[in-house]
Amino acid sequence: MAVERTLSIIKPDAVEQNNIGNVLAMIQGAGLKVLGTRMPHRSRAQAEGFYEVHRERPFFGELVEFMTRGPVVVTALEADDAVKRYRTLMGATNPAEADDGTIRQAYGTDIGENACHGSDSVENGKIEVGYFFPEYLLK
Ligand code: CMP
Repeated sequence: MAVERTLSIIKPDAVEQNNIGNVLAMIQGAGLKVLGTRMPHRSRAQAEGFYEVHRERPFFGELVEFMTRGPVVVTALEADDAVKRYRTLMGATNPAEADDGTIRQAYGTDIGENACHGSDSVENGKIEVGYFFPEYLLK
């Protein structure tokens, strides 16, 4: 199994509810290694750029508004099979459909305010980690 890198974002809702430590504990408990972490409060332009692929979606404005309303915690993670492992730990996008034991089941509110983001593919994991942590870009 290949060593991969993936990006986690603890979203403003989970930060506001003091769940940073709880989410990071779940991440580390699942065997994902924290390479680096920081807590930026992102501008509208930065959030729009990160979510560019969703620009045409009806929820784009709401998504950008939410992701800029307070700081987020971005974390570069590494493990065997890291992308799938973190997506399994996050649970379904809609917390109402997320399995027990997942981050979104524990700390998400609804499909918009769903506590966390994770890269959706190995390729995007490389791109997203490189976007926030150029020093951890995998060639
Ligand atoms: P994320 O993994 O950060 O990637 C895109 C985000 O868009 C997703 O998590 C959801 O939080 C958000 N999203 C997806 N569908 C909807 C929706 N119908 N309404 C609001 N936000 C959504």
